[in-house]
Amino acid sequence: MAVILIVDDEAGVRASLGGVLRDEGYTVDAVDSGEACLEQVTRKAYDLLLLDIWLPALDGLDTLARLRERGVESQVIMISGHGNVENAVRATKLGAFDFIEKPLSLDKTVLAVRNALRQHHLEAENRALRARVDRRFVIVGESPLMQELREQIAMAAPTNGRVLISGENGTGKELVARHVHTLSQRSSGAFVEVNCAAIPEELIESELFGHMKGAFTGAVGDRRGKFELATGGTLFLDEIGDMSLKTQAKVLRALQEQVIEPVGGQRGVRVDVRVIAATNKNLIEEIRAERFREDLFFRLNVIPIFVPPLRDRGDDVIRLANHFVAELAQEYGRRVKRFSLEAEHMLRLFRWPGNVRELRNVAERVLIMAPGDEIGASDLAFLGVASPATLRDPSGAPVVRPLHSARDAWERDYILAALSVCDGNISRTAEVLDLERSNLYKKMRSLGIGPTRD
Ligand SMILES: Nc1ncnc2c1ncn2[C@@H]1O[C@H](COP(=O)(O)OP(=O)(O)OP(=O)(O)O)[C@@H](O)[C@H]1O
Ligand SMILES: [Mg+2]
Repeated sequence: MAVILIVDDEAGVRASLGGVLRDEGYTVDAVDSGEACLEQVTRKAYDLLLLDIWLPALDGLDTLARLRERGVESQVIMISGHGNVENAVRATKLGAFDFIEKPLSLDKTVLAVRNALRQHHLEAENRALRARVDRRFVIVGESPLMQELREQIAMAAPTNGRVLISGENGTGKELVARHVHTLSQRSSGAFVEVNCAAIPEELIESELFGHMKGAFTGAVGDRRGKFELATGGTLFLDEIGDMSLKTQAKVLRALQEQVIEPVGGQRGVRVDVRVIAATNKNLIEEIRAERFREDLFFRLNVIPIFVPPLRDRGDDVIRLANHFVAELAQEYGRRVKRFSLEAEHMLRLFRWPGNVRELRNVAERVLIMAPGDEIGASDLAFLGVASPATLRDPSGAPVVRPLHSARDAWERDYILAALSVCDGNISRTAEVLDLERSNLYKKMRSLGIGPTRD
């Protein structure tokens, strides 16, 4: 139950108000001055303050101002015997929720208290939810490739142009799509997602365009499609490369005409959506293989955004690992763990075929499984990477192999580590290794290190 503090210099008011609110089930304390109030709030957290405006030394409004300066977030109701507009305006600006006037009507007071607490509760809940959502949607990464990506997002977002996001599995394509929406002029509209790969072919049309009652068996009522639901907002067509040619033709028409036709409907419905599409396929190859329509590709690909694989992002892998461990620790109510230097090294060396999604899963696994506060090399043994110095077989015995293969392995790891320190920048890596850029390239190719970009 809520905890309330009454601040009033009249003993009678403290007693009667306190009595009524206690009868309502609240926990109530009372003090007789602004100074005492400022002191009392440092001792205990109050959900609500009932604050008299006229107090002997420090008056109610000044007390409120100081409370706010100190970051006290309790809800506040002002009590006043001499309600005037100026006071009301000042108090409201300082964030007071309501006024009650002396002589106090007890019924009205109880009602005001209830409303104030309900509002306070909603605000707190809202803040908590927002913080959670914000944390889930941050893009972590400082490497040059990620900085470039951020710039591309910022440039694309306000234009209203269609965006085609490409990148391997788990690189963060959906996250990028959400950011484009959030930074756009449509951010107050809906972000509607359709996973084209997950919906059976016979349902996708009705999913996208809606249907009318009786259009097919099972269509028991009218249903609006995702295009319509996204009107005023953004429609995210995920895994667009998996859409059938037949559906592609319909989507193309919808994009060209900004009109959709619900299944079984007689006339078109005008829609106003911004389409963002994503794919992990190479659409140019899909076009060559006649699995993707070239005209649709050109419609969608107004602004292309490429999300780089995790292995090209240098030390972002460490930043992301720490980010996920912190996020998940909070979610599970566990203590945050650190990665040892050796463990960090292994994170850098691993190739991350499943990219950021895989890293998140690994972070979750080690947070739960690793004993103690530090995540060490042994906790990451399942990744199957080993630095040459620690190369051991499953029984823990050192592995001996031909010198050239050991040397290759060592060189490969060393170059990967150097690349990582240089955030994936090849020119800089060549410089610190004192190699010609072209030599470094050649070496990387022969060792099977594949940077996709420079
Ligand atoms: N840069 C990043 N910072 C923080 N979290 C990220 C980042 N990139 C991806 N994630 C997180 O990793 C997970 C996978 O990202 P997302 O779903 O956006 O990837 P995707 O490319 O759409 O994956 P898929 O190809 O599997 O559909 C999500 O939990 C996402 O929040
Ligand atoms: Mg996705």
